[in-house]
Amino acid sequence: MQNLASTLSKTTLILLAGSFLAACSAPDETETAMQAGGPAYNTSLDVTQLMNLVLEPASDILWDSGGWVLDASGYEELYPTTDEGWAYVRAQAAIVVEAGNMLALPGRAEDNDAWLIYAEGLSEAGILAMEAAATQNEDDFFQAGAQLYSVCTACHQAYNPDINNRFDESED
Ligand code: HEC
Repeated sequence: MQNLASTLSKTTLILLAGSFLAACSAPDETETAMQAGGPAYNTSLDVTQLMNLVLEPASDILWDSGGWVLDASGYEELYPTTDEGWAYVRAQAAIVVEAGNMLALPGRAEDNDAWLIYAEGLSEAGILAMEAAATQNEDDFFQAGAQLYSVCTACHQAYNPDINNRFDESED
């Protein structure tokens, strides 16, 4: 990347040299300054920690609040029944929205391509869940939970298929 960047800025310099002689050394300096003074993200939590400590706990609360899991005792009405209950799940959905951004940060994103699409998918599903919680719409909330689940499994399938196998095992 560094090589590509310096090649590009050399090319820029050559192109600019003819018409902007006085400023011909500026692009390199500007680029270095921007890199050094750019936003400093604290990404000391790795993706595994983000999954276990931030994303999964919030998602589990959403799924547990949506009649998502059928257990031995049959179908249970799991949706929140109070304004406070809906406000609580809405806040968990907000964590999911932001977890999409956290995964997209430089230092966490595994590429600039599909990874970012899955990360954005997480945020979109989170927004749907937030809207459903705000209007206390059970069907929409359930759909948002299903959409969320499919984003998790799609990203794991692409980047770490073992995770999905572990999910399957733990659900048996
Ligand atoms: C943008 C991609 C992506 C999305 C979206 C994603 N994950 Fe992950 N997840 C990963 C990767 C990559 C790993 C493996 C990390 C590692 O251990 O190297 C992982 C690992 C995990 C793990 C196992 C952590 C461990 O201890 O090994 C859990 C649990 C998990 N994810 C839960 C979720 C849940 C729940 C969702 C959806 C709400 C989700 N993930 C969405 C990429 C993603």
